[in-house]
Order: sequence, then structure tokens, then C-alpha cells
Amino acid sequence: MDYQLELQRAHEAARPVLATGRVADYIPALGAADPRAFGLALATVDGEVHGVGDWEARFSIQSISKLFTLALALATGEPVWHRVGREPSGTPFNSLVQLEAEHGIPRNPFINAGAVVVTDRLLSLTGDAAGAVREFLRAESGNPALDTDLAVAASEAEHGHRNAALAHFIASYGNLENPVEAVLGHYYAHCAIAASCRDLALAGLFLARHGLRGDGSRVLSRSDAKRVNAVLLTCGTYDAAGEFAYRVGLPGKSGVGGGILAVVPGRGTLCAWGPALDRAGNSVGAVAALDAFTTATGWSVF
Ligand code: DON
Repeated sequence: MDYQLELQRAHEAARPVLATGRVADYIPALGAADPRAFGLALATVDGEVHGVGDWEARFSIQSISKLFTLALALATGEPVWHRVGREPSGTPFNSLVQLEAEHGIPRNPFINAGAVVVTDRLLSLTGDAAGAVREFLRAESGNPALDTDLAVAASEAEHGHRNAALAHFIASYGNLENPVEAVLGHYYAHCAIAASCRDLALAGLFLARHGLRGDGSRVLSRSDAKRVNAVLLTCGTYDAAGEFAYRVGLPGKSGVGGGILAVVPGRGTLCAWGPALDRAGNSVGAVAALDAFTTATGWSVF
């Protein structure tokens, strides 16, 4: 397959939908993003990397970080599943409604409530949850300059009333091991990491390699890599996960910075970025580009 040509076609086909989305501004520092920015990258398990458009521009990875916090928390072999579920929520990513009925056990690790619990776990395990995510991303992408955007992290903290409410509510059920402020600090710091489509496509390859890192060492067991991909497919794009599976047919994780990282197990990864979002918080351009690429190439788990 001519990867570069297929990426170009998908990028071109998706471009018209960019005008239909809106840049997230509930975190004010994200509101300045250019809604016409648009990139698409592909990395293969054989070591090929291709990209089109703004694929090397850095953007706020936001909830894409939750894929890495989950993987790193599971990497230690310690279970997290007694503290967070693995069912789709059918509610927005920052919803509070299920937490009380479900006694402070978030529905899955990718909604904000679930990611707060996983960040808490990773903080207990490593002493530096955001640092663990940053170091993993740097190593796998080969980009030592990759880092948290401190202005975005501060903006999130300043406007983080909803996340603080979620975290305190979870703590009231005894489902946090560390102080709320510490957990939220690490949560904002990993969400506010800035990386490019290229960086993220490379960093996600361990899920396409069934748990193996770029240097051949194992970060996840084959079973856990399968499980993370399964939860990505069912929960990675929130209450639009059904639509994403229908259109793209791949495990994927979105972020309100406009990125989506998708995994093609055994073959590679795709990362698309366009800051204009739909109402579920997923990038309209990224979903359309991934849809166009997988429809044209048959790169899907189905
Ligand atoms: O906590 C938040 O709201 C953001 N740091 C992350 C949300 C997000 O990316 C949801 N993704 N679509």
C-alpha cells in the first residue's frame, strides 16, 4: 500500500468537515487553537512513519494521556479493576451522574472520574504519575523535548471545579489513596502534555505490538494489551464510542485538544489532529480522516 497517498487522500477528504466543529474553550488556554489546523500520521510496526498536513505540530494531548496512564498502571501487574470499571458510560466525559449510584467506582478509566482514579494509582506506584507518562512518551517517540505545557496545566487547574468535584466525591467513598490536590496536579500535568501526531503515533505503537515497546522490552502482557485495546474501542471516545467504532472500526482515544490516537493491532497506529470538536468532545476532522483512511484501506479490526 502507498501509505503516503492514502494519508493524503484521507486528509483531503476530511478537510471540509473542519468548519462544522468548535474548539474547546472550557479550558481557556485551549481556546486559542486554530480550527483549521489539521494533521494525520501513521506509524507501522515495521518502523515506517508517514504524515500529512500539520502532523509535526504540537498540540495538547488531553485525554489521550489516559491511555498511557492506564497502560503504565497495569504495567506493574497490580490490578486496578476493583477501583474502576470497564463499561461504556453513555454519558459525557466529565459527567458526575453515575458516581453516586455506583459508590464512587467510575464506569471506565477514560472518563475523567476513571482517569483520576488511575492517576491516583499510578502516583502511588511511581511517586510521579505525570513524570512516568512524560518519560514513556519521550522514550517511545524519540522526542526528548516533549513536555507539559505549564500554561495549559495552570488553566485547567484554575477552571477545574468539575474535576475537583469528581475527585472529592470519589475520595468520599475511600477510592483515592493520595490527597485530592496531589492527584489533580498530576492529572492536569499529564493532560497538558504537548505532542505531535508523529510523537503520539510512535508512542502508541506498543498497543499495535501486543505490549512490546520500541526497544523490544515488554510493558504490557499480550492479554493486557488486548484488554486496553478493547476498553479503548468501547470507551475511548465516550458517548460517541458506538459511532466511532461504526465509522472507524479501531480502538481509539480522543482528547479535547483535538487529537485521536487509533490502534491497528499487529499493523500500526494512526494519529489525527484537528482542534474543532463535535458535541461529544471528539475532533470532527480527526474522526472524518480516520473514517476515510480505514474505509479506503480496510485497516480495521473488523
Ligand atoms: O479534565 C479535562 O476535562 C481535560 N483535561 C481532558 C478532557 C478530554 O480530553 C476529554 N476528551 N475528549
